[in-house]
Amino acid sequence: MAAELAQIEQAEIAEIIDGKGIADSIHAEVKNEAEIFNRTYGRFPGLAFILVGANPASQIYVRNKGKACAATGIYSVTDTLPEDITEATLLARIDELNADDTIDGILVQLPLPKHINEEKVIERISPAKDVDGFHPISLGRLMIGADTMFPCTPSGILELLKRSGVKTEGKHVVVVGRSNIVGKPVANMLLQKKKGANAVVTICHTGAPDVAVFTRQADILIAAMGSPESIRGEHLKQGVVVIDVGMNRIPDATTKSGTRLTGDVHFASAREIASKITPVPGGVGPMTIAMLLKNTVKAAMLRKNE
Ligand code: GUN
Repeated sequence: MAAELAQIEQAEIAEIIDGKGIADSIHAEVKNEAEIFNRTYGRFPGLAFILVGANPASQIYVRNKGKACAATGIYSVTDTLPEDITEATLLARIDELNADDTIDGILVQLPLPKHINEEKVIERISPAKDVDGFHPISLGRLMIGADTMFPCTPSGILELLKRSGVKTEGKHVVVVGRSNIVGKPVANMLLQKKKGANAVVTICHTGAPDVAVFTRQADILIAAMGSPESIRGEHLKQGVVVIDVGMNRIPDATTKSGTRLTGDVHFASAREIASKITPVPGGVGPMTIAMLLKNTVKAAMLRKNE
């Protein structure tokens, strides 16, 4: 009896979507593709990172991306440039990388120091090497449903849904957050009339008087507003699939460091209502890097087939 009850309780708790495991299988695919590319063209796909200044979080991100390249057979170089570099010098470095035939992808780690215009920098990267998918040409192509370099976190989300068996066709997806990096592109990708998309999409944001009015209608909820644990179980519909893009460091006296990483969703209460949920860390985060590697191989192949 106790065992049966435990089973029933178990069934009511959301299944965890294993982003780390799915990202690992994508890494294996990339490794294979990079080897085939090397056998065919005599070099591995190449990715250049530009890191300006000494922002500790950016340093960690770039280091982790570089490690993922090394593990999957992608050649990578990191340019570490001083905080006070001029915009003109940075743009000139991008021009050099645009012209470098061994480099297929260029990633300028954001944010940049205040004296540098981010838009200008993003627009200087050749769209053919725009593995971040942030160039207006890439985003414009995304919006009209054409093939392009899709930004890494949004394509990681679509891939997570696909590989964990979540159908999006005809479903109501509610995206919370309207950033250019996640909210706007993921909403546009999901509404395209394509396999793995074709959803009815609502985007809500801080301008909404009551965000919960929208989140309670979601069959699939994508939380990407950067506000720690602010969506709770009571804001959700029974059986919803929850994708938590948040990556917030909050105080926690019970840990050794005195802080912990958490998402935009309150995991424990959401897990009692949802059918599937991504953890933080180990959900969307690893997928962002996996899709960057995929984009680099894609850029390399496209440049060869031009
Ligand atoms: N800063 C935070 N996330 C990202 C990202 O995905 N790409 C770049 N270039 N900078 C970032």
